[in-house]
Amino acid sequence: MKHLKLFTLAVAALAVCLSVSAKPKVRIIATGGTIAGVSATSASSAYTAGQVGIQTLIDAVPQMLFLADVSGEQLVNIGSQDMNDEVWLKLAKRVNVLLNEEGYDAVVITHGTDTMEETAYFLNLTVKSDKPVILAGSMRPSTAISADGPANLYNAVAAAVSPNVKGMGVLCCMNNQLLDAKTVIKTHTIDCDTFEGGPSGIIGYVYNGEAHILQTPNNKHTVNSVFDVTQMDKLPKVGIVYGYANASPLPMQAFVDAKFDGIVLAGVGDGNFYKDVFDVAVKAQNQGIQIVRSSRCPTGPTCLNSEVDDAKYHFVAALDLNPQKARVLLMLALTQTHDWQEIQKFFMEY
Ligand code: DGL
Repeated sequence: MKHLKLFTLAVAALAVCLSVSAKPKVRIIATGGTIAGVSATSASSAYTAGQVGIQTLIDAVPQMLFLADVSGEQLVNIGSQDMNDEVWLKLAKRVNVLLNEEGYDAVVITHGTDTMEETAYFLNLTVKSDKPVILAGSMRPSTAISADGPANLYNAVAAAVSPNVKGMGVLCCMNNQLLDAKTVIKTHTIDCDTFEGGPSGIIGYVYNGEAHILQTPNNKHTVNSVFDVTQMDKLPKVGIVYGYANASPLPMQAFVDAKFDGIVLAGVGDGNFYKDVFDVAVKAQNQGIQIVRSSRCPTGPTCLNSEVDDAKYHFVAALDLNPQKARVLLMLALTQTHDWQEIQKFFMEY
C-alpha cells in the first residue's frame, strides 16, 4: 500500500511538472496605470492610477494559468503621464534580459494608456528579440464595475503565447484588438475602445483565447533595429512644440536656450508653422538642433519637401509618425547621428 501511495504521488508530481514545463514562460512587468488603479467606489469615475501590485493583477485572472506559466515583477507603479526616460531605459534593458538571458518566451507589460503608444514604440526600436512583447492596460480602474483590465491582461497573455505573434514587433492589446507599436494611437479620453491603428488599421484581434493576425508591420523593428540602449543611462533631450494660429515662438526658443538636442513640431496641416516660430526653427537648425516636422492632424503623413523646403533648411519630415512618436525616433536617431539626411532615412525605415 505504501508503495502505491508513493507511486501515485510521483505521478501527480510529474503531471504538475509536465503541465507547468509544457506551458510557455511569460513574465509580466507591471509599471502602474489605470489597470492598477483604485476608485473610491466601484461606480465612481474618480480613481488613482498605479495603486495595485502585480501579484494582485495576476491573482485576479487565474484563467491565465491555463495558457502559460505566468510570473510577475513590479518595475514601477506610476500613472503613465509620469513615464520617463529612466523607466524606458530600465524597461528596455529588463525585457532584453528576460528574453535573451532568463529564458522567457514572452513579456507582457501592464502600463497606463496615456503614454502606452510612446513606450510601445520606444521598445519596438530597442528590444533585441523577436519574441512577443505585448503592452496591456485599461480605461477603467481595477475596482470599477466591468473593469476592462483583467480581460485585456488575459488577452495579452493569450496573444503572447500564440505562435503567429512572434516577429511582429512590440504590440498593444486593448479591447480585444492587437495594434502595432508604430501605428497605435490613443484617440479617446475615456472610451474603452480608445486605441486605433491609424490608416493601416489594427494588426489583429484576440478572441476566445487565441490571436488572429490580419496584417504584418512593414517597418524595421526589434532585431532589425540599429538602436541599442544596453550601455545607455540617458537619452538625448527632445521637446515638442504645438502649432496654432498666431503661435508664440517662446516655447521653441525656450528649448533652444535650454540646449535641447532636437525639437519636434506638432505643426498645422502638413507640418507647417507660424512665421515667428519658423524663424526660430531655422536658427535652431543652424545651431545644430535637429528640427523634425510632424503634424497635429490625427491622420495623414507629414510630407518631405512639400509646403516646406526641408532640403533647404535641413529639416526632417516625420512622414507617418505623430509628434509623440517622432520624438521617440528622433531621440534614438540622435544617439547614432546628427546628420539630417541620415536621420531622414531613419524616418523612412522605422
Ligand atoms: N493616469 C493615466 C495613465 O496611467 C490613466 C489612463 C489609463 O491608464 O488608462 O496612463
